[in-house]
Amino acid sequence: MQRVVISGTGLFTPEQSISNDELVTAFNAYVRRHNAENAEAIAAGTLQALAESSAEFIVKASGIQSRYVIDKTGVLDPARMFPHIPERPDDQLGIQAEIAVISAREALAQAGKTPQDVDAIIVACSNMQRAYPAVAIEVQQALGAGGYAYDMNVACSSATFGLQAAVDAIRAGSARCVLVVSPEITSAHLEFRDRDCHFIFGDVATTMVVEAADTCTVEGAFEVLGTRLQTQFSNAIRNNFGFLNRCDESGVGARDKLFRQEGRKVFKEVCPMVAEQIVTHAGDAGVAVDDLKRLWLHQANLSMNELIARRVLGRDATREEAPVILDEYANTSSAGSIIAFHSYRHDLASGDLGVICSFGAGYSIGSVLVRRC
Ligand SMILES: CC(C)(COP(=O)(O)OP(=O)(O)OC[C@H]1O[C@@H](n2cnc3c(N)ncnc32)[C@H](O)[C@@H]1OP(=O)(O)O)[C@@H](O)C(=O)NCCC(=O)NCCS
Repeated sequence: MQRVVISGTGLFTPEQSISNDELVTAFNAYVRRHNAENAEAIAAGTLQALAESSAEFIVKASGIQSRYVIDKTGVLDPARMFPHIPERPDDQLGIQAEIAVISAREALAQAGKTPQDVDAIIVACSNMQRAYPAVAIEVQQALGAGGYAYDMNVACSSATFGLQAAVDAIRAGSARCVLVVSPEITSAHLEFRDRDCHFIFGDVATTMVVEAADTCTVEGAFEVLGTRLQTQFSNAIRNNFGFLNRCDESGVGARDKLFRQEGRKVFKEVCPMVAEQIVTHAGDAGVAVDDLKRLWLHQANLSMNELIARRVLGRDATREEAPVILDEYANTSSAGSIIAFHSYRHDLASGDLGVICSFGAGYSIGSVLVRRC
């Protein structure tokens, strides 16, 4: 069978970052304003007063300290509470393609490849900026790559699902060098006026260069030993935004058209599934979990990652074994485990094994076993 490697990764990080204190200050100003404006209804008992948020809660519940965003002024304006991202003319590169291209160029440089070497691009992420043409095709044109390109969405698991699609395409002979790009502008689907989730997400873009081992020219690539995907329907993480919305005007602008979740339920249901998948995936591949030098896990919640790593290893993982980037980046949806892989793999030695694992809405879980060449 054709051996396939990840030969480069790239990361675009927005310039603007929001600390928990900044986020909470803006949120609490919004709450006081909302409660003052609705004082009568609240006093009459027809409307519930909103409760304030706290930076201590955010760190304790999630481990998140800050998040990067495309635009912080809109998010931190108590009269607005969502980013300003102006629409661009059709003949200008879109914002999502723009950040995708930045991460793609870094990944290509690391892999010693040019855009002309690329014959497939998969843009795999939670939110696409439009229905069509595919963002991936815009990225393909902007890079000057050939072949084919398409978008796919499996929420937070998009990058590992995209990775399997890339590996399969290379093994089947339909492509030789594939970019898996995850440009996540999560700030645009987040309800910053909901204290249960206003702190969760951040913006970022990642790219992986996936190619046949025999075309790889760089040291330190990671061979993909196996991929495993799993889905199981759940409404615990859901966003009803979509093209049918205008066909039932009663729901336009309603809360369900943005990200929402039952965080506790997700925590309880997903952690055991993820740990089980990693253990069985490794076992079926003949890999002892003790030989997994690194777990590049989806970055949604620190306690979740600690629990999953403990279940997999049978003991607490060190930060070196299960690196954390969510403190700085928050939950960047599909990009989280790839940021961890991008930032914490270069110290591994030839032959070392690891697993990239994502999980999220769907539910969906993707695990990818890799070995440093
Ligand atoms: C979202 C999450 C961080 C919330 O943490 P949690 O410990 O479950 O917190 P809860 O939602 O149970 O809330 C605990 C209490 O804090 C309160 N609270 C919620 N948000 C708050 C905030 N911003 N500030 C202060 N208090 C807050 C709640 O109202 C609740 O109060 P109560 O006990 O009086 O009812 C956590 O559940 C999580 O990360 N789940 C997994 C999410 C995930 O991976 N999703 C995938 C997304 S792609």
